[in-house]
Amino acid sequence: MDQNSAPLWEAIENQINSMSVQFHIPGHKRGQAIPDEFKKVAGQNIFLMDLTEIPGLDDLHNPQEAIAEAQALAADLYGADRSYFLINGTSCGIVALIMSLCRQGDKIIVPRNAHRSVLSGLVISGATPIYYQPATLPYFGCLVGPDPAQIQDLLEKHKEVKAVMAVSPTYYGVLGDVTDVANICHRFGVPLLVDEAHGSHLRFHPQLPPDALTSGADAVVQSTHKTGGSLTQSSMLHLKEERIAPGLVTEALRMVQSTSPSYILMASLDLARLQMARQGKELLDFTLALTHWCREKLLCIPGVRLLSVEHLGLPGARYLDATRLTISLLERGLTGYQTAELLQKKYGVITEMADYASVVAILSLGSHFEDCSRLVEAIGQIVQLESGEPLVIPKTIAMPPPEVILSPRVAWQSSNQRILLKDCLGRISGETVAVYPPGIPVICPGEKITAQVLEYLFEVRDQNLKIQGPADSTLKSLKVVI
Ligand SMILES: Cc1ncc(COP(=O)(O)O)c(C=O)c1O
Repeated sequence: MDQNSAPLWEAIENQINSMSVQFHIPGHKRGQAIPDEFKKVAGQNIFLMDLTEIPGLDDLHNPQEAIAEAQALAADLYGADRSYFLINGTSCGIVALIMSLCRQGDKIIVPRNAHRSVLSGLVISGATPIYYQPATLPYFGCLVGPDPAQIQDLLEKHKEVKAVMAVSPTYYGVLGDVTDVANICHRFGVPLLVDEAHGSHLRFHPQLPPDALTSGADAVVQSTHKTGGSLTQSSMLHLKEERIAPGLVTEALRMVQSTSPSYILMASLDLARLQMARQGKELLDFTLALTHWCREKLLCIPGVRLLSVEHLGLPGARYLDATRLTISLLERGLTGYQTAELLQKKYGVITEMADYASVVAILSLGSHFEDCSRLVEAIGQIVQLESGEPLVIPKTIAMPPPEVILSPRVAWQSSNQRILLKDCLGRISGETVAVYPPGIPVICPGEKITAQVLEYLFEVRDQNLKIQGPADSTLKSLKVVI
């Protein structure tokens, strides 16, 4: 296909140039009803692009013209049989995939540390999760991808599984061997779905790890907005049709996406695809040069540890996306949380994420040398001025195995009440509690709060570890099913 055009963008430009008058939504009519404060910062032109499904602009939910052509070009570039533009992020793509493959009571193999949209997909579909726990890398304590042997084991035990889900790359840019996992899944006749939220750029540079679709995945959801040059909330779902019926995915996406999809977001996807087709390799050459420069400089600062290929080697940790910088100052007595706070408050450097061991900085197509230089300088200054006694990642007791009593959907639909943590023994949890490190939920909705789980939660409270999920973040109480 001719990758040099951007059909949706061109359709929008034609519409803007037509100078027609608008008696259709959006109500702001080319920005005229947009408050001045907004226009002062955003300018005027953005509002001209904010259009709707009028003739000539196609319909995301039944694409026949410009959107169909733009999606076909994306499929061609990303090696899919079919690609979908998503205007509700990768989150809605993951929910739609689970909905399209699983019915009430069906089993799906998912990583225990999956993004929260997986839980939404389980609640909406009624599917029952079979969890696997990814390993953590020593020193950095960060989670890795799926271990093929673990997936094979689960598929042997659960013959009736409808799909396997994997996260690749992880937030830290770590990838396992997706080819091995895909081969195993296919031997069992099961499709592999990959949450590639952090990997839309991988395909475009030979020095980057292989992308999931090339590695044999059946469906891949990518946050183009995270690493690919489109606007926040815009993502793509790429499908291979051999094991997944596209009709079901299309229907599921209709249920989870707005009937008023933003043309600004969709146009940004069309142009991001064009950009990668024309200049992907060249832009990534520059990003990789920057990242290598940062790596070299950071490693010269005494006490700085940087997640690098030599730290890999576990099953589930075969490749590293070099554009992710996982920087640890534990040896200098600073947790990732403290480092991130200092970076932001004292040096105006905002990183993507922090955990106990490290901060994660994302370099991408938009990164500049000046930004990198500020990051490196700030880390150097922090090491000089803020160092303390070396720290190690706090050891928690072994993560207790989940005891699933109710499916996430039944737990979600049940009545619940908040009770003191000390009274939770034997009850069924109504919410998720994920602890950082390692970022794996100790308990999910529908699971039994066993003595081991309770002991773990008390330890988490005593050690003051960061948690995500429960409404009561102090963990004094927990929501349980009644
Ligand atoms: C691993 C992972 N999957 C899925 C998502 C959801 O992506 P989006 O924000 O595009 O909905 C995220 C978001 O941070 C993520 O980190």
